[in-house]
Amino acid sequence: MALKPTPEDKFSFGLWTVGWEARDQFGDATRPWLDPVESVHKLAELGASYVTFHDDDVVPFGSDASSRDKILDRFKGALDETGIKVEMVTTNTFSHPIFKDGAFTSNDRRVRRYGLRKIVRNVDLAAELGADTFVMWGGREGAEYDSAKDLKAAHDRYAEGIDTVAAYIKEKGYGLRIAIEPKPNEPRGDILLPTVGHALGFIAQLEHGDIVGLNPETGHEQMAGLNYTGGIAQALWADKLFHIDLNGQRSIKYDQDLVFGHGDLFSAFATVDLIENGFPSGGPRYDGPRHFDYKPSRTESFDGVWASAAANMSTYLILKERALAFRADPEVQAALEASGVFDLAIPTLSEGETLADLLNDTSAYEDLDVDAVAARGFDFVHLNQLALEHALGAR
Ligand code: GCO
Ligand code: MN
Ligand code: MN
Repeated sequence: MALKPTPEDKFSFGLWTVGWEARDQFGDATRPWLDPVESVHKLAELGASYVTFHDDDVVPFGSDASSRDKILDRFKGALDETGIKVEMVTTNTFSHPIFKDGAFTSNDRRVRRYGLRKIVRNVDLAAELGADTFVMWGGREGAEYDSAKDLKAAHDRYAEGIDTVAAYIKEKGYGLRIAIEPKPNEPRGDILLPTVGHALGFIAQLEHGDIVGLNPETGHEQMAGLNYTGGIAQALWADKLFHIDLNGQRSIKYDQDLVFGHGDLFSAFATVDLIENGFPSGGPRYDGPRHFDYKPSRTESFDGVWASAAANMSTYLILKERALAFRADPEVQAALEASGVFDLAIPTLSEGETLADLLNDTSAYEDLDVDAVAARGFDFVHLNQLALEHALGAR
């Protein structure tokens, strides 16, 4: 049962997703170049509300100023005709050979200065198009060999680059926020800021970190064996979940960029549950675009490309329906209660209680029947089975 999206669903696609020509490490392109104007029209027909892009997805690298203007005018025409908006823009600092050792963290200072110029030019374009988010995926910021980088200096240069761009955004008064996209590896052997947690720690050290947050991608956390829902939860808790890249990944291996839900489906259910229902005790919510960053498999023709784009949205909507039913089920609410899920929101010390009070509370320690408390079962398995039955539509 395929579900049809509406504008309230805020679905968004990178132009590089459907436009991927499907060239990989071992084989040539299996699909021809796809005109971004056609993608905008097609995605609008399928029910998406937004597109996102790297500068080079729309204007080929090295285009002169007059052809750049012509291309952008034509692209803006497609946006006007369809009502599709640009919510996020990102910069390609990974394809051209000049970026083979990174942009902000290349050992070659000329490359760092060139990369900064390319990014700042793209910030202006993002602002002009009314985007809210400026994603920075530093795919080439890393190394294959530990001896290749002064890692202290690399973090200094990374911070310098991002702070310089953030300061420029503030100075110009642009309504943009920067979202760093972590990834553990690929294309580099190891990439700097490999996970949500690393990036959060880095942002805390920035001078202009107030407008810098995260764009976590499902598969990137899973490539590191991590829990994506846990990652976005911590970003939400830190008020840093500025954007999301949803897709599918099956375990720790190369970046698969599958359709959302086509990897770890049960984890995708948990992700949608968090996004759509929030934390059980309330608190910060993600209200931004549901953005898909996937690659239509190399085996697919254009029919398959559009079917896969629709599949992302349909899967999300099916999981949303299931997640809403999960939380609305009185049996689930009772199971959450029995498992103590709501109790975790109660502060460990009572209001006004000090640590000294706790130290004097013999019922908390000296007189506590430790074995009796330890004997409690949490019934998490029952709760998880209810989640699974809802996820499968068996309830
Ligand atoms: C990846 C990345 C890329 C994008 C990035 C935005 O799969 O490694 O997500 O697809 O370029 O999301 O720059
Ligand atoms: Mn990816
Ligand atoms: Mn991504």
